[in-house]
Amino acid sequence: MANAPDLIKLHTAVAIGAVCLDGSPPAYQLDWGKEDGAKNWLLHLQGGYWCTTTQECQTRMNDSSGLGSSTKMKRSYFSGILTNNETLNPYFYNWNRVFVRYCDGSCFTGDKQEFSADGPYYRGSRVFSAIIDELMKLGMKNAQNVLLSGSSAGGLGTMVHCDRFRNRFPTSTKFKCLSDASYFITLNNPSGFVELHGSSKNLPETCTSKMDAALCLYPKNFVPDIQTPLFILNSAYDTFQIAATVRLPVNTSRSCLYNLTGCPDTVRKQWKNLRLKILQEVTMGDLSKRGLFINSCHTHSQSEFQSKWLGDPKSMLDNMTISEAVGKWFNDEKLVQLIDRKHSSTKQCVLDASEPNACNNYTWGASYLCNT
Ligand SMILES: *[C@@H]1O[C@H](CO)[C@@H](O)[C@H](O)[C@H]1NC(C)=O
Ligand SMILES: *[C@@H]1O[C@H](CO)[C@@H](O)[C@H](O)[C@H]1NC(C)=O
Ligand SMILES: *[C@@H]1O[C@H](CO)[C@@H](O)[C@H](O)[C@H]1NC(C)=O
Ligand SMILES: *[C@@H]1O[C@H](CO)[C@@H](O)[C@H](O)[C@H]1NC(C)=O
Ligand SMILES: *[C@@H]1O[C@H](CO)[C@@H](O)[C@H](O)[C@H]1NC(C)=O
Ligand SMILES: *[C@@H]1O[C@H](CO)[C@@H](O)[C@H](O)[C@H]1NC(C)=O
Repeated sequence: MANAPDLIKLHTAVAIGAVCLDGSPPAYQLDWGKEDGAKNWLLHLQGGYWCTTTQECQTRMNDSSGLGSSTKMKRSYFSGILTNNETLNPYFYNWNRVFVRYCDGSCFTGDKQEFSADGPYYRGSRVFSAIIDELMKLGMKNAQNVLLSGSSAGGLGTMVHCDRFRNRFPTSTKFKCLSDASYFITLNNPSGFVELHGSSKNLPETCTSKMDAALCLYPKNFVPDIQTPLFILNSAYDTFQIAATVRLPVNTSRSCLYNLTGCPDTVRKQWKNLRLKILQEVTMGDLSKRGLFINSCHTHSQSEFQSKWLGDPKSMLDNMTISEAVGKWFNDEKLVQLIDRKHSSTKQCVLDASEPNACNNYTWGASYLCNT
């Protein structure tokens, strides 16, 4: 059965102002590694969209999902890349696996000194650093292998922090990053985001030295300069991005954001254009160490869900599961660069609504299954 490790709240972080939006301590879940995985660390940053106005962040502080407060967090099940079951996660099952919980609303980038006592506090980057410091003390500083990964907002945080975090380890440590469902083509209110959270100084300097910091939230503007090997896992028909980019003509059913049956050609065209943009942007820059797995599942976030990570044949490309693709790339067995160029239309890949974590309002590809 799936396990759900204890939620560990980092109370000592409060004194250094590394807190969730509501001022509560940041939190993580840890399943210890064993055997030949004992010196390997997987850190997976949780996703869950973001907030770009004070009002949105205040609402998030109260959200029952715990995305703004550790007082409301519940333990998450470890599945997909996080599971300890060897059959279901052959490359990482016995590593130290950490689920870094998201409660700052800024993809772990914010750092604003000012606050009001009732919140919101904008401290995402401090949260990231405080949890890393703690894990270093718990043994991560002696890691042989490290994979920093994340889905959606967590994947954006992963890409932002990838090089700087890598530099805290000696070159003898094998260190790579995995970004899942976070190659965002369009973002809502990026200027509001960086200003509200004070994110600018934490975004990659390679980008902020060249352009407005708000533009440096877009992966295409900083990913080509990332030095650390990076694997980009994304669907070309990512449901979150479709919902964010497709403009439905008047009187068109909202179901055209989820299911193209019976939808007008103008909508189909927008889906296809999004796909072409994603394919173009994920291949920008130096590809000599880049892993790529760009399939056509109509979904969002594929590493944390067992059926997508390893299980549903429709998620596979060239007979390779996502699990195997990421594992072989990490181990330097194969430079996996798989892009589904055949399916110019979407595929419905299986996601069982009964899977742990499937039914919450922030796993966009899944929530339509769940009668919410
Ligand atoms: C959050 O919850 C508290 C306590 O229930 C309530 O007083 C406050 O108005 C809520 N804030 C928002 C923005 O919903
Ligand atoms: C691991 O997963 C497989 C496939 O679902 C299952 O048959 C097996 O019982 C699981 N092992 C453990 C120890 O839970
Ligand atoms: C949308 O549907 C309503 C009700 O059926 C109709 O009155 C209206 O003219 C339609 N608008 C357009 C632009 O087709
Ligand atoms: C898409 O919509 C069509 C028509 O309503 C329906 O028959 C089909 O089952 C839907 N597909 C999915 C995967 O929901
Ligand atoms: C995938 O595997 C199936 C069954 O093992 C095999 O028949 C097929 O040729 C394989 N396809 C590719 C592209 O390797
Ligand atoms: C999802 O959002 C709806 C409407 O805001 C709410 O009623 C429902 O409880 C939420 N579901 C979960 C699992 O948080």
